[in-house]
Amino acid sequence: MKIQAINGFKDILPDTAVRWRHIEQRARDIFERFGMREIRLPIMEKTELFVRSIGEATDVVEKEMYTFVDKGQTMRPEATASIMRAFIEHGLHVQQPVQRLYTIGPMFRHERPQKGRLRQFHQLDAEIIGAVEARVDAELIAMGQMLLDELGLAVSLEINSLGCPVCRPPFKAGLVAFLEQRHEGLCEDCKRRTHTNPLRVLDCKKPTCRALVENAPSLLDALCPDCNRHFREVQEALQSLDIAFKINPFMVRGLDYYTRTTFEFLTSDLGAQAAVGAGGRYDGLIEQLGGPALSGIGFAMGLERIALLMEQQSDKPQPGDSMDIFLAALGDKTLAPCGQLAHLLRKQGLRAAIDYSGRGLKAQLKQAGRVNARFTLIVGDDEWDRQQGILRNMATQEQQPFDLGGTPEQQSLRLLGLVQPTTN
Ligand code: HAM
Repeated sequence: MKIQAINGFKDILPDTAVRWRHIEQRARDIFERFGMREIRLPIMEKTELFVRSIGEATDVVEKEMYTFVDKGQTMRPEATASIMRAFIEHGLHVQQPVQRLYTIGPMFRHERPQKGRLRQFHQLDAEIIGAVEARVDAELIAMGQMLLDELGLAVSLEINSLGCPVCRPPFKAGLVAFLEQRHEGLCEDCKRRTHTNPLRVLDCKKPTCRALVENAPSLLDALCPDCNRHFREVQEALQSLDIAFKINPFMVRGLDYYTRTTFEFLTSDLGAQAAVGAGGRYDGLIEQLGGPALSGIGFAMGLERIALLMEQQSDKPQPGDSMDIFLAALGDKTLAPCGQLAHLLRKQGLRAAIDYSGRGLKAQLKQAGRVNARFTLIVGDDEWDRQQGILRNMATQEQQPFDLGGTPEQQSLRLLGLVQPTTN
């Protein structure tokens, strides 16, 4: 019996890994343009961290966490809570009042796997801690938009405000009263949520619930003056940066720590999985976790979803793995010197491939094509005796003689002059 990977846990095969690396490199580059610094975190945390931050009555904590019950430890379902834990534990605010941090890595949620939804998935997560200004919200959203733009992806941006501990509780009470009157029409989940997490009913995807909440009171009408001003300033700042957005008063998000601004980058190209990235402000979270009273805002993007969307939306050829040179050693005499030459070329920074099987020219050229070599150096026993190999440009199929005289070092330097290393 063959052993297969666990459902929802996926291998990233080399062709996909190339695309992922490209996305990660772009993300690092852009995040660092915005002054973000990388933080690397463990994938296991104390369960309590997620219960206290994400919230007990959320789907993630209620149903989706991979927890070692006897140890009280959980494989992280997201990165924000861990970043806050590390931020508090190491007193990072003492070094610098505003911290801009990002991390890239695997997250774990026991959801029903489907296209773009996995149990082990990967996030690009960025957080700005210690800044309250609405312009910072806009800057962070602009950073996400810049990444998606530079990857050539078309997505739409929706924003909302979830208010604060001043304006949300009275709104919630009014919403519960509204929902209780319509209890019978709600789905089973929303019947339960009416009392555990009523805001979530607003973004239930079931058509019956959707129709019911269309006339529900809007949190945007209930915002306190401070939240109102903040939300207006976020919109003005986004406009000044030329970022197009739509206000969606029904966007609630599935994690409890959000306050004020929330946002999602959406696509209709991934079936049911519409969110490519999402985030928001969490002004009370750090204090709630025992840290200083600092606010924060962040987002996370799903690497799997970005990669899928690139496959679907972008007709540009993907940056592929390529070799600079393939050494076709065709005779017994040539194997040892060609092996030595390949080693020296690699030391000098070239991507060099070689086939030691002694197969014929046709098979070796085919292999050179498979590894995507830009050049092939053909050296048979005859060529070796005459000290003159053939250098073939694989794209143009042009061939030129190549002088095999001198020491291996001299040969490799001459080759380096003709075949510059790829930079990517
Ligand atoms: P989230 O909305 O739960 O937010 O996830 C963010 C993104 O992660 C989603 O938009 C999606 O692209 C990806 N994602 C989530 N679950 C899965 C899954 N099962 N399979 C594949 N991709 C998935 C958060 O995690 C927050 N921590 C974001 C944040 C950061 N808010 C503030 N700072």
